[in-house]
Amino acid sequence: MKKEILDKLNSTNQKYLKNYLSNIDIKDIPNKLDHQLTDMDWSLLDLINGQGQKRGEFSPLGAMEISDIEKNKSHYKELGLEAIRKGEVGAILLAGGQGTRLGFNKAKGMFNMGIHKDLYIFEQLISNLKEVTDEAKAYVPLYIMTSEKNDKETKEFFKEHDYFGYDENYVQFFVQDMVPSVDFDGNILLDSKESLAMSPNGNGGWFSSMVRAGLDKDLNSRKIKWLNVFAVDNVLQRIADPVFIGATIDSGNECGAKVVRKADPEERVGALCLEDGKPSIIEYYELTKEMAYSTDEKGTLLYGFGVILNYLFRVDKLWEIVDNKFPVHVVKKKVPYMAEDGHLVKPEEPNAYKFELLILDMVYMMDNCLSFEVDRKKEFAPVKNAQGVDSVETARELLIENGVEL
Ligand code: UTP
Repeated sequence: MKKEILDKLNSTNQKYLKNYLSNIDIKDIPNKLDHQLTDMDWSLLDLINGQGQKRGEFSPLGAMEISDIEKNKSHYKELGLEAIRKGEVGAILLAGGQGTRLGFNKAKGMFNMGIHKDLYIFEQLISNLKEVTDEAKAYVPLYIMTSEKNDKETKEFFKEHDYFGYDENYVQFFVQDMVPSVDFDGNILLDSKESLAMSPNGNGGWFSSMVRAGLDKDLNSRKIKWLNVFAVDNVLQRIADPVFIGATIDSGNECGAKVVRKADPEERVGALCLEDGKPSIIEYYELTKEMAYSTDEKGTLLYGFGVILNYLFRVDKLWEIVDNKFPVHVVKKKVPYMAEDGHLVKPEEPNAYKFELLILDMVYMMDNCLSFEVDRKKEFAPVKNAQGVDSVETARELLIENGVEL
């Protein structure tokens, strides 16, 4: 182990690592652990006592509302289908998260939503995508981001299920980066005697992880101009929606974001807006009461369009921001770890900080963004929690309402 690392360990808390190292000869430190400590960005530790991200001045953005979209729907759809047929559209499935709130111990997409038959989340998403590709009579290249924790099982699952009827030549996987987690006092957590407790680094690093995996060559050779990025957990997700693609192209914006009307002014979703004149997302807890309830002359909430993690990015703009430094968000999560006596603890409550990059910061790096309203009853059924709001139960009800057999 390098001397600088030992100095870092000694100058910060690090009770788990110090205790562990006191029981072994420093020469015997496992290679993997040694590399993780060498590669680690130690400045992350300074963030846990930081003030969080400093935000600019917010103003409303409004949206292209469903009624506006309806008027031009066939035009947008034709434009979108044409882009798909020309092979200009790819899709990115963000499936590297750990789904700790759901508490399912495999990749979230492997969760079975079925009641009388099997219906896995991945299967439902592919079926949504196939509705578009069947109509376009052209495949959309699908890139699936996994993490070191679920890469193998995800790939095997797709293979075992014959890619749920999608052409496997159009499906590729890439693995996102990992970062260490720390307890609330900044002690780096160990997951075993060989490794730190590493977690995926958030959903904001997908493009750089894709480039690192060499998939930029694939984007170039296929001449993909637009990427539709979406979360694994919204089972009503419309993927490569030609109307959304067409409207974004037609608007001349660099990116598009699907939004839904908030269920109530204080709903806990981030709202698309402007921050210092740039597209941005204001979190529900950042809204003052006055902002949350203020409306325009038609009575529409000014900060009333919530994002559902379905974005369309122009690839040339992604290249411009690929080397940008993203803000790191410190989030509380449940992280299993090896206690000082060597036994593995599986916490019931959040016990640690994870360091995450978020896709919403990517939206802020764009000069403009089309806010595109969709009907939440038809396009928003997130599976976040085991029970209660945004749970398996609420998502099942919404699937049934939309005619999906479970
Ligand atoms: P969430 O914000 O719900 O995070 O992810 P999560 O880790 O999956 O779940 P919880 O909070 O622990 O319960 C939103 C989307 O971003 C992806 C997820 O897979 C999901 O599609 N994501 C999240 C990643 O791909 N990588 C990450 O590091 C985090």
